[in-house]
Amino acid sequence: MSPFPPLPDPAKAAELLATRLREAPELLVVLGSGLALPAAAVEDPVELPFEALPGFPPAGVMGHPGRYLAGRLEGRLVLFQRGRYHFYEGHSRAVVGAPIRVAAALGIPRVLLTNASGGIRPDLIPGSFVLVEDHIDLQGRAPLAGPVASGEERFPDMSAPYDPQLGLLAERAAADLGIALARGTYGGVLGPNFETPAEIRMLRLLGADVVGMSTVPEAIVARALGLAVLAISVVMNPAAGLTARPLSHEEVLAVGARSAGPLFELVRRIVRGLPEKELGAPDLDFGGDGRPRQGFSQ
Ligand code: HPA
Repeated sequence: MSPFPPLPDPAKAAELLATRLREAPELLVVLGSGLALPAAAVEDPVELPFEALPGFPPAGVMGHPGRYLAGRLEGRLVLFQRGRYHFYEGHSRAVVGAPIRVAAALGIPRVLLTNASGGIRPDLIPGSFVLVEDHIDLQGRAPLAGPVASGEERFPDMSAPYDPQLGLLAERAAADLGIALARGTYGGVLGPNFETPAEIRMLRLLGADVVGMSTVPEAIVARALGLAVLAISVVMNPAAGLTARPLSHEEVLAVGARSAGPLFELVRRIVRGLPEKELGAPDLDFGGDGRPRQGFSQ
């Protein structure tokens, strides 16, 4: 037997998920640390733990149950991914990128990445929602390094990693709900330790408004596949050095529990505003940048 665990097989995983779904979901929503879904969040729920998919390890962080939940929200089919794989857990590129590749293989045209972050900009206090406009990748792990995966761009353009139209939709949705949604740049670090105060000062000088340990690799893989990306960060704590208190994962989970309800309402409103699929139009038409996706006529 190989001493190495098997790698995820996104195409097979998508096939398996597709047997449980009647159509391609319109959106993948990745839920960050502690950002739980309310009970009975969707109609006609279909649940699947990550481990049910070929080569998918369990998702191992506290507050991350590691399951897919598909169902109807505002009448639209949405796939929720509860929990995610992080580089700081020691997962390989193949594992960290696998859920996005599954989404692409399923024909999902767009992803909403949510995450927990530390607030660097002084106005971004715990509980703030931030529309991620751009990121700075300081993870030191390029998720696309290695052979080009099927259907992916070798050198994806990153001049607009986060879809401006989806961003405007999120801002309209937040305004309708009376939820403040700031804009900011996400500094992506490897973790799992929190930053030092000097590192936060450096991140601030570099232009980061929030700091977190996820999202960046998924956004990069999504762009390589032509999926449109929306990312919303929930600030869980003032970043290191901005408060006298030490940072803790428990604090992240507590703020997450308070923020999960409003975040879900925001997601619902965003889903309501997604452009309708044109009846009779081929599936290929609704990709983020119009490029055909994996699994279709490429
Ligand atoms: N730093 C990095 N990641 C985080 C933080 C933080 O302060 N809070 C929540 N996730």
